[in-house]
Amino acid sequence: MSKKLIIANWKMNPATAREAILLAKKIEAGVVKKARVSVVIAPPFPFIPEVRLVIKKARIGAQDAFWEGAGPYTGAVSWRHLQALGVHHVIVGHSERRIYLGETDEMVQKKVRALLENGMSPILCVGEKERMGNEIPDVVRDQLNTALAGVKKDVITNLVIAYEPVWAISTMSGAHPDTPDNAFRAAVFVRHVLTKLYGRERAENIPVIYGGSVNAANIFSFLKEGKMEGALVGGASLKPKEFVNIIRAAAEAH
Ligand code: PGA
Repeated sequence: MSKKLIIANWKMNPATAREAILLAKKIEAGVVKKARVSVVIAPPFPFIPEVRLVIKKARIGAQDAFWEGAGPYTGAVSWRHLQALGVHHVIVGHSERRIYLGETDEMVQKKVRALLENGMSPILCVGEKERMGNEIPDVVRDQLNTALAGVKKDVITNLVIAYEPVWAISTMSGAHPDTPDNAFRAAVFVRHVLTKLYGRERAENIPVIYGGSVNAANIFSFLKEGKMEGALVGGASLKPKEFVNIIRAAAEAH
């Protein structure tokens, strides 16, 4: 059985390098390395080198990457920069980038391709803004199809899909976590789209993880009943005790 993947998305937190190091130290002290769980910490770009010095029991990830390796792209941080910093996992197409920075499925696709073609692991975020009832909306299918258009099957080994319904993200007004049942339904839906693109066997090997108000109390059911292969954790990853408990619960969820 494959390892559960728990990713901490620190977003634009904390405010200073000092606080980032402190947070990383607390997480490092609490994490008992579990054979069944892989942990990735994704701090803001400027803190990656320092956090990396502190974190030994987890890997360092990033929250975005530009698709070109180098060139005249003011302000962009490329996959190549991140690779040089020891980053392997990169969150791509997070809803906050889509909403606040105008990131489109086409841009997401270029990022996914660049990362996969260079041996890195994109955590491709998809998820609807609204959902009526239990049906997973078509927008999720469209996001996947566009983001993966032209991505060849021989490079998809490191691909991870994060199903993250936007309304479930803890900072949205009225946010509440999805149910493990619906998360399961979403995983089946995502895998169905992936099967059409890459065939059954390959699709089955692509981890589908859940994000949206994950905490130490609900992670177990998302992994166990929801059969999710991991979680993308925002708010709760900034609370060291809570995050450590998420990892512990994930280790039990096999
Ligand atoms: P949340 O954020 O865990 O605070 O809901 C998840 C995310 O946005 O990745």
